Amino acid sequence: MAFAAGHSGSSSLLGTHLQASNTKQVLAPRCSRKAARVQAVQTPASTAGMDESMGFKMMRKGVKQASADTVLTPRFYTTDFDQMEEMFNLEKNPTLPMDEFEAMLSEFSTDYNQTHFVRNETFKKAAEGVQGEPRKIFVEFLERSCTAEFSGFLLYKELGRRLKKTNPVVADIFSLMSRDEARHAGFLNKAMSDFNLALDLGFLTKNRQYTFFKPQFIFYATYLSEKIGYWRYISIYRHLQRNPDYQIYPLFEYFENWCQDENRHGDFFSALLKSQPQYLNDWKAKLWSRFFCLSVYVTMYLNDHQRTSFYESLGMNTTQFNRHVIIETNKTTARIFPEVPDCETPEFWKHMEALISLNKKLIAIGASDAPQWQKNLQRAPIFAGFAKNLLALFNGKTVDCGSYDLQPEAALAV
Ligand SMILES: [Fe+2]
Ligand SMILES: [Fe+2]
Repeated sequence: MAFAAGHSGSSSLLGTHLQASNTKQVLAPRCSRKAARVQAVQTPASTAGMDESMGFKMMRKGVKQASADTVLTPRFYTTDFDQMEEMFNLEKNPTLPMDEFEAMLSEFSTDYNQTHFVRNETFKKAAEGVQGEPRKIFVEFLERSCTAEFSGFLLYKELGRRLKKTNPVVADIFSLMSRDEARHAGFLNKAMSDFNLALDLGFLTKNRQYTFFKPQFIFYATYLSEKIGYWRYISIYRHLQRNPDYQIYPLFEYFENWCQDENRHGDFFSALLKSQPQYLNDWKAKLWSRFFCLSVYVTMYLNDHQRTSFYESLGMNTTQFNRHVIIETNKTTARIFPEVPDCETPEFWKHMEALISLNKKLIAIGASDAPQWQKNLQRAPIFAGFAKNLLALFNGKTVDCGSYDLQPEAALAV
C-alpha cells in the first residue's frame, strides 16, 4: 500500500489500524447520495471510562473516545465516485491536461518528506511539561488536527483506488496524497499517545459519520482546506521561530516541511479545478465559491475563538492569527476561484465578531442548568442572529477574481 509506517518512522499505531481497517469495504456501501450519515460512535460499555485529569471519555486504556460530531468538528467525506470516474476518463475527456498531471505525479513521487516525520526523545518529556488547562486544550487541538488529516487520507485513498482504471496518473497522485495524509495523521496520533490519549482510527473509520459532497463541492472544500491548512501551519511555525520560548512541544518544529505537503495538495486541486472549467466559469460557480470560502473561514474563526487559551499558550493572539490566515488563504484562493469574499473590509470583521459573541452565548446556554424548553427558547434569537450575520457575510462585498487560464501558482511567500 502507498502508506508505509516506516516512511514516517512514527506511525506504528496508525499503521496497525489502517491494516486492520478496509477502506474499500467501509466507504463503498456508503457512497450513494443518501448515505451520508451513519451511526454515531458507540463506546463499548465494558471498556468505557474517564480520563480523570482532563475529563475525557476513554474507549480503553490509552485510547480516547472521539469527540461527538458537531457543526464545527472535522468531517469525513464521501462523494459520487462514478461521476469522478467519468470526469477523469481519458477516452471520454481527451483534452485533460495530462502533461500538467504527469509533472505533478513526478513531484509527488519525489516524496520530499519521506524522512521528515521522525520523532525524537523530546516529545514525551515535553508532553509531561504541559499541564492543567493547556493540556486539555492541547489534546483537543491534536485530536481535531488528527481527525482532519485522517479524513483526507480516507478520501484520497478511495479516489486513488476508484480512478485507477480510468486515469492512472490522477489515481496515483491521489494515492500519494493519501500517503502524506496518513503520515500527518499518524504523527499527530502518536503525539496524542504522548498524552496517553491516542485515537482508534480504525474504529473511527467504520463508525464516524460520512458527509456526502458531490465532486464539484469536494473540489472547492478540499482546495480550501489544504490551503488554509498550509497557512495555519506556516503561520504557527514562523511565529514560534520568532518566539522560541513558546515552543512548548516539538510537534510545531515539523510544520515547515509539513505545510509544503498541504500546499502541493492544494495545487493539485487547483489543477483539477482548472481541468473542469464548468466549476469556475459561471454565476453558479461564483456563488458556490463564495459560499465555500465563507463556510471554511467562519468555521475556523468560531472554532479557534472557542480555544483562545490554546493559541495564547503559544504566545499568539487568536484574532490576529486567524485574520492573517483568512486573508492570506483568500488571496491564494482568488488565483483560482472565480469569486471570493472581500475579507479586508471592516464590515466583514464586524459580522465575524458578531458570530463569535453569539457563539459564546450559545455555549453559555448549553452549559447552564436551565430546563431544556427554556434553553430552546433562549437559543431561538441567537440562531436568528447567526442567520442574519451569515446572510450579511454572504451578501457582503466580493472580489471578482480567478481564471482557469492563470499561470500555475507561484511559490507562496510568507
Ligand atoms: Fe495533511
Ligand atoms: Fe493535505
